[in-house]
Amino acid sequence: MEAENGVEFLCNKTLLVTGATGFLAKGDDLSLIYIIAKELFQVLREVHGAKFDSFISKKVAPIDGDTSLINLGLNDDNEIYKEIDVIIHSAAVTKFQERYNLSLEINTLGAKNVLQYAKTCPKLQILLHVSTAYVCRQKAGLIPETLCKTLSDIVGLNIEVEKKLVDNKLNDLARKGASTKKIRDTMKSLGQKRANMYGWVNTYAFTKAMGEMLIWEHKEDLPIVIVRPTMIGSTYKEPFPCWIESVGSISMLSIVYGKGLTHFTHADSNAIIDMIPVDMVVNSIIMGMVANANKPCLTIYHVGSSMRNPLALHKLVENNYRYFNNNPWIDAQGMPVNIKKALLVKGRLHFSMLLVRDILKLMVLKIVDGASCHKFNVNQEKLEFQIKVSATMAMVFRHYLFFVGIFDDENTEKLRRAMSKEGMDGKVLNFDPNCINWDDYLLNNHIPATVKYLF
Ligand SMILES: NC(=O)c1ccc[n+]([C@@H]2O[C@H](COP(=O)([O-])OP(=O)(O)OC[C@H]3O[C@@H](n4cnc5c(N)ncnc54)[C@H](OP(=O)(O)O)[C@@H]3O)[C@@H](O)[C@H]2O)c1
Repeated sequence: MEAENGVEFLCNKTLLVTGATGFLAKGDDLSLIYIIAKELFQVLREVHGAKFDSFISKKVAPIDGDTSLINLGLNDDNEIYKEIDVIIHSAAVTKFQERYNLSLEINTLGAKNVLQYAKTCPKLQILLHVSTAYVCRQKAGLIPETLCKTLSDIVGLNIEVEKKLVDNKLNDLARKGASTKKIRDTMKSLGQKRANMYGWVNTYAFTKAMGEMLIWEHKEDLPIVIVRPTMIGSTYKEPFPCWIESVGSISMLSIVYGKGLTHFTHADSNAIIDMIPVDMVVNSIIMGMVANANKPCLTIYHVGSSMRNPLALHKLVENNYRYFNNNPWIDAQGMPVNIKKALLVKGRLHFSMLLVRDILKLMVLKIVDGASCHKFNVNQEKLEFQIKVSATMAMVFRHYLFFVGIFDDENTEKLRRAMSKEGMDGKVLNFDPNCINWDDYLLNNHIPATVKYLF
């Protein structure tokens, strides 16, 4: 790696960031972002004072593009491609069970559209594609920083065929005059079905994996980095600690628990919750670009914590309890929500029995309520909702709550080592999960941030 740090590398460069309004792309005070009213930009506001607006307007130019379209939907007379030095492709649909048509267009074909666009940029030094560590089909063992599979490795998988399947299905639904809800539900279950058929856990992971495959197939000699973050948590330090935006799976666990919506979860208490603060992801993105700019190669970086400083699920659950026991959530009626210690239930039968117990309780409540002509104020809706939440969590997050894989991060570790060798004069961008004290981070940073921004 050249003796250049991330800040120097980005100086006087033109960056195109897709998905700049999203959680990750906003987590960097160097990137070109236009949601400047957000609290996250307070630090920059303080630095630039009255000149903040003119500073931002010189640095940031919003572009109305669409990565699901060829040429990113930009007009032929748009000449920005001539200026671009770096592309960070972060745009994605991130819901695990999103409609297949959207996920395929944005996560899979979108990756190819951005790649083809990058090839037209004469000054381009690097294309950085943000993927996810969970593109792997494994849920145990050491998961390497390599492509999980190429298209030819997966028997029967053909992206053109997937696209035709989606188009035919949509045409068929339109012919039958299907409602918007019917189309949505059909597309969601089609994505899940195709993902499972080819060995992936959900539509999101499947379509992101196919996006990587297309990049591999069409990359030619472009310098490309794929950064695969694991589950992204609140800011550790930069630009200030304790900021979060997107509701990922880990935040969802805190939300449903803190709001008293469930106290038992189908999960392995020793599952590895691979979590990494958003600023560490951004720092690794910057250093990944510095290390690979102008080199015709494709390098993959796992950015997570399971290899160096693993976090077990029970630790997250214990900290949720400690936090909400001391700081109960105040509900819409102004009442504190009292929480019980959470139960992590590994056995499927045990979990089903707990669900059945609650369903029976609900039935009894309904009978008593009816027989007493609604004289007792029994809260059936709450219990009914709790049952739904427990069942949905078990279905949507099952893979992650039983995940015991470790993401090998040898490439990322090499980046860290190279950086410290260069002695970067206090400007080192930290992305070392070793420095995280999980109890402290969860209790004083990630959980309060989740409460502040996501409840
Ligand atoms: N958050 C995590 O825990 C996590 C973990 C691992 C990997 N990742 C990856 O990190 C990246 C960023 O995730 P995130 O959490 O920041 O996602 P996010 O908050 O859901 O933001 C997604 C961004 O993509 C944009 N987008 C969606 N479709 C688009 C299209 N067709 N054209 C242009 N922009 C489009 C959205 O714009 P609009 O707001 O206009 O819709 C939004 O700015 C994604 O690639 C994701 O797969 C995230």
